[in-house]
Amino acid sequence: MTTAVTTPKHGGTGGRTAVAARARQVVKAYGAGETRVVALDHVDVDIARGEFTAIMGPSGSGKSTLMHCLAGLDTVTGGQIFLHDTEITGLKDKKLTQLRRDRIGFIFQAFNLLPTLNALENITLPMDIAGRKPDAGWLQQVVETVGLADRLRHRPTQLSGGQQQRVAVARALAARPDIIFGDEPTGNLDSRAGAEVLGFLRRSVDELGQTIVMVTHDPVAASYADRVLYLADGRIVDEMTRPTAEAVLDRMKDFDARGRTS
Ligand SMILES: Nc1ncnc2c1ncn2[C@@H]1O[C@H](COP(=O)(O)OP(=O)(O)OP(=O)(O)O)[C@@H](O)[C@H]1O
Ligand SMILES: [Mg+2]
Repeated sequence: MTTAVTTPKHGGTGGRTAVAARARQVVKAYGAGETRVVALDHVDVDIARGEFTAIMGPSGSGKSTLMHCLAGLDTVTGGQIFLHDTEITGLKDKKLTQLRRDRIGFIFQAFNLLPTLNALENITLPMDIAGRKPDAGWLQQVVETVGLADRLRHRPTQLSGGQQQRVAVARALAARPDIIFGDEPTGNLDSRAGAEVLGFLRRSVDELGQTIVMVTHDPVAASYADRVLYLADGRIVDEMTRPTAEAVLDRMKDFDARGRTS
């Protein structure tokens, strides 16, 4: 597979932008009758390839649900999800599992590393399970970019929180997925370790052409992205390109004020 990727820094407007993931009129409802909750309410979204997108919004607004649906980790109640040109809604389990394994990376808030494996073994685990041999050159590039070259033989308990999360990021990148999703990947880190991980995510977009979608509550984290999408009550209510932490914070204050008066 060739990856001729242009890397628009902060949302290049010129030229054709390929779409890495697409949601069309996606509805996700949980439960039935009186306990029915509509977590996503006819969401349309395009995630551009080679871009870093942040998803923000109040607790319960549907951020995790949207990401899980886009990543094929959860089914939708209505609408369609596409990864590149493949519609994943309606794919059979086996095909979906395969596609997820080959094309999607997921970074969880709580790292999800295996304690008995060292850093390198954790990074290559998904490929080992899939019976794929890691590309040695790429693996080295990923390990160097995340700054873990001298920690590869350490187990998770021997690593700092930031280093553990960088292992989780390297694991997501190692299989060269088309798109990486992170649900508050820096939520458990102090600001310094968080900055390390965010700086790395930014570089993987700029230098490796990676596509990243990240949920965050933090305006500073969002400022690393090219674009911020705002969710409220299961709908996309706003977006901002080239975000700065100040602008994101101001927008959040606006939403809070509106929320209080409505
Ligand atoms: N498995 C489930 N069963 C029932 N309701 C659910 C389920 N998962 C999520 N919900 C509901 O769907 C809505 C959206 O949840 P979601 O987890 O996507 O929110 P979120 O924006 O990620 O919030 P947070 O910032 O707190 O993580 C919430 O009202 C939640 O209660
Ligand atoms: Mg969530």
